[in-house]
Amino acid sequence: MVSTAGTQSGEQGWSSRSAFILAAVGAAVGLGNIWRFPTLAGESGGGAFVLVYIGFVVLLGLPLVLSEIMLGRAGGEDAIGSVENVARESGVSTRWKGLGALQITSGFLILSFYSVVAGWVINYVYLAGGDFLGAVMSGDVFAGAFAGETQDQITGRMGDLFADPTRLIILHAIFMAATIWIVASGVHDGIEKAATWLMPAFFVLLVIITIYGALTGNFGEAVAFLFTPDFSKLSPVVLNEALGQALFSLSLAAGGLLTYGAYVSKDVNLAPTAGMIAMADTTVAILAGLMIFPIVFAVGLDPAGGPALIFQTLPVAFNEMPAGALVGFVFFILIFFAALTSSISLLEGPTAWVIDKTGWARKKAAIVVGLVAFAIGVTCALGYNVWSEVRPLGFWNIFAETDILDTLDGFTGKIMLPLGALLVALFVGWRADANMVKAQTGLSDGMFLVWRFLVAWAAPIAVSLVLLFGLVPGLL
Ligand code: PFF
Repeated sequence: MVSTAGTQSGEQGWSSRSAFILAAVGAAVGLGNIWRFPTLAGESGGGAFVLVYIGFVVLLGLPLVLSEIMLGRAGGEDAIGSVENVARESGVSTRWKGLGALQITSGFLILSFYSVVAGWVINYVYLAGGDFLGAVMSGDVFAGAFAGETQDQITGRMGDLFADPTRLIILHAIFMAATIWIVASGVHDGIEKAATWLMPAFFVLLVIITIYGALTGNFGEAVAFLFTPDFSKLSPVVLNEALGQALFSLSLAAGGLLTYGAYVSKDVNLAPTAGMIAMADTTVAILAGLMIFPIVFAVGLDPAGGPALIFQTLPVAFNEMPAGALVGFVFFILIFFAALTSSISLLEGPTAWVIDKTGWARKKAAIVVGLVAFAIGVTCALGYNVWSEVRPLGFWNIFAETDILDTLDGFTGKIMLPLGALLVALFVGWRADANMVKAQTGLSDGMFLVWRFLVAWAAPIAVSLVLLFGLVPGLL
C-alpha cells in the first residue's frame, strides 16, 4: 500500500515496507561500516571496542532507531516539522523542534565531508578498475593489484591524491552530483529505486569478498582480534568513540531516520522494522571487519592503520593476494554503493525541510542544499593540502591535531550526534504523549515498558556520562 504520509510537498512515500527497510538499511550501511568501524576497532584494540559498540547498539541504538522512525511517522513532515507536530499534539512546548534542527544540521555537515571521503573511494574504483583492466588485457585475470609497484608506491597513491586539490574536489563533485541527482528524482523514483538496486548488489559483493578473505587470508587472527576483548584498552575516550560510531552507523541523530520515517505508511509495524535495520547494520559492520582484517593480517600489516586502513593498507594486501586486482576493484565498487545509499539519506533530511519551508520544487531544493554542502566539503579537501596547517578547533585538546575533515567528523560524531540522541531520548521518553507513542510503536505492554525504560532512563544517563567523561577531560 502506498503511504498517505509524506511532506507538505506531496511526496508519495515508500511503496512497501520492504522498500522502506532497504532504504533505511541503505542509509545505515555506509562508509561508517566499512571505513569508520574497522578503523576505530583497529585503533582501539579490537574486541573491547566491538563489545562496547554492540552494547550501545542493542541498549541505546535500537530503542532510538524505533524512537526516530516513530517520531517521523507520527509527525509526517520533515525532521523539524515532525517534532513540532508531535510536541503540539502532546501539549508540550514546540521548541522541541530544535532537536530536529540540530539533527538536520548534523546530517548536513556529515554530508559535506562524507562526500569527500566517498570521492576517495571513486578514485580507488578508478585506479583498481584500470588495474583490473590491465590484468585482463595481459591475459592474467587473477593478477594481484598494482602489479610491479612497491609497497611505498602503493601507499603513496593516497598521498598523491591528498596533495592534489583539483582531483579531490572533482571527485567530491562527482559524488555530490550523483547524490543530488537521486534525491532530486524523488523518494519513490530516486531514493527507493537506488536502494532497491544497490543494496542487494552490495550484499552479494560483501559476501563474496568476505568468503575470499576467509579462504585466502588469516581468518583466525581476525576473529581473535575482533572478538577477544582486552579491557585495558577501554577509556572514556574510547567509550565516546564507540557511542558516536553506534549513532553514526545507525544513521541516528542526523535527520535521516526522522525524515525517512515520515514516508512510512501507517500500517507498517515499526518495532520489528527497527530491529531489522539495526541488525542488518551491525551484521554488515562485523562482516566488514571479518572481510578486512583477515586480508590485513595475511600480509602482516598493522590493524591500527587509522583512516588509511582501506585506502593504503588494503591495496597493499590486494597487491600480494591472488586475484587481488579483481577483488580490489569489486571491493571499492562495494564501498561506493554503500556510500551512495547513505549520502542520499543525509541530503534528503535538509532537502525535505527546505521543500516544506519554502515550497520550492524538490529538484531546486536538492541542488541548493547539495551545493552548499559541496562548498563546505571543498574546505575539507583543501585541508589536506593548501590548508593543511588549519586546525579549526585547535584550542580544544581532543581536536588539537585534527585537520578540517577530521574536525568535522569528530565534532559531529562525538558531540552533535550524542546531543541529538539525548534530546530524542528525553523528548520521546518524557514529553511526547505516551499513548500516542505506544500506538505508533506497536509494542506489547511489556515490551513497551522495557523500551520506554531504555529511552527515558538508560539512554539519557549513558549518553550524558559518555559526553561528560569523553569530552570534559579534553577541555582541561
Ligand atoms: N550511517 C551512515 C554510515 O554508516 O556510513 C552514515 C549516515 C547516514 C549517518 C545517514 C547519518 C545519516 F543520517
